[in-house]
Amino acid sequence: MSELWTPSSWRSKPALQIPEYPDADELAKTEQRLSEFPPLVFAGEARNLKAELAQVAKGNAFLLQGGDCAESFAEHSGDNIRDFFRVMLQMSLVLTFGGSKPVVKIGRIAGQFAKPRSSAMETKDGVELPSYKGDVVNGIEFTAEQRIPDPERQVKAYRQSAATLNLLRAFASGGFADIEQSHRWNLGFLEGTEAGARYKKMTDRIEESILFMRACGITSDNTHTLRTTDFYTSHEALLLGYEQALTRTDSITKQYYATSGHMLWIGDRTRQPDHAHVEFCRGVQNPIGIKCGPSLDPDELLQLLDILNPNNEAGRIVLICRYGADNVEKHLPALVRKVEGAGRTVVWSCDPMHGNTITSASGYKTRPFDSILSEVNRFFDVHKAEGSIAGGVHFEMTGKNVTECTGGTNLVSDEALSDRYHTHCDPRLNADQSLELSFLMAERIAHERNGG
Ligand code: PEP
Ligand code: CO
Repeated sequence: MSELWTPSSWRSKPALQIPEYPDADELAKTEQRLSEFPPLVFAGEARNLKAELAQVAKGNAFLLQGGDCAESFAEHSGDNIRDFFRVMLQMSLVLTFGGSKPVVKIGRIAGQFAKPRSSAMETKDGVELPSYKGDVVNGIEFTAEQRIPDPERQVKAYRQSAATLNLLRAFASGGFADIEQSHRWNLGFLEGTEAGARYKKMTDRIEESILFMRACGITSDNTHTLRTTDFYTSHEALLLGYEQALTRTDSITKQYYATSGHMLWIGDRTRQPDHAHVEFCRGVQNPIGIKCGPSLDPDELLQLLDILNPNNEAGRIVLICRYGADNVEKHLPALVRKVEGAGRTVVWSCDPMHGNTITSASGYKTRPFDSILSEVNRFFDVHKAEGSIAGGVHFEMTGKNVTECTGGTNLVSDEALSDRYHTHCDPRLNADQSLELSFLMAERIAHERNGG
């Protein structure tokens, strides 16, 4: 793989999951327009994220990555962004407290529009149409017209990403992330439960700590870091024409960066070492995630690391493991031994969503809260047994009170799934379920930190 890399060298490789557009000229014109638009993120920010991920790899920080499975044009609103940001901040406060280390926050947001699909076609009531591939490609409505890939959607996705990022930047630095404000918990849903009483003890201790700091003269008025936060964006690098159009040379280092988001990841279906998605990602300097599912052979992973991170740079690679709760012990230990044994520095992260999808009795695609929690726990167990570092987690989640995953203390039942099932792709944890998971993880991390 020492062949010359260019932003377009992926075009000569086999590529899976990339849509066929009916009008190639129109697509090329749109990509040309996009290539003249301003970058969404700066190379320097991607470098900062890499440095923070290097700390995660060493065990000095924890990674929290989360957001929609698929962002949509329909759900684009300030309220949605605000509610998502708030729950991420609260989860990160809980995890910071549990682990006594900083939490690196990355949203699946401001660019997470393109979806790989297991089947190219979808059938409903005897009618067969091309599958929905995310709002950046085609429409979710089940009509022949909507399912045709439309290049103009890429411009719309770019503009929505810019607006989303603008608000996130404002929230991160304009006072919304103030530690003295963001601990205003919404734990009403846990009232009267045993779990609620335990979590309340933790939030009381967080509040005491804030009061203690205040008494010592450390307040958000005089201490910048209590008032602001760093928040990064990420998405799957699936639609490579769009990614190429937003790839730019950094004026400082003269190296290439994807400027569509701070971090990109390669999906479980498109990580073939000699294919287009790996080719594209090897040449941009952003942090890169690799989804690791049951079909990933440990030797193939080493090959991927050779291609994507030949200099073993810390913070470059996040391995996002997604096996399904019952498959973690079967696959993860071998992967950990291979990677650690070869002296590779990576961030180990757990995606407990994509291996735990089931169809409910009522016909909804869902994920049980208990399976999600179980995969996280087994991921931690394996790293504890192997002496490696469980670096972080990767969730599909929203700040809204949707009913897409079942379970949690504020029980979402199978029958309730139809109440507020809004996702454009996979089922997300709602705000209560997300926060509850962070409490459960923090309890475990704190317990282990105290020698348990
Ligand atoms: C996703 O993260 O939404 C996804 C499609 O994941 P995976 O590639 O792991 O299946
Ligand atoms: Co998904």
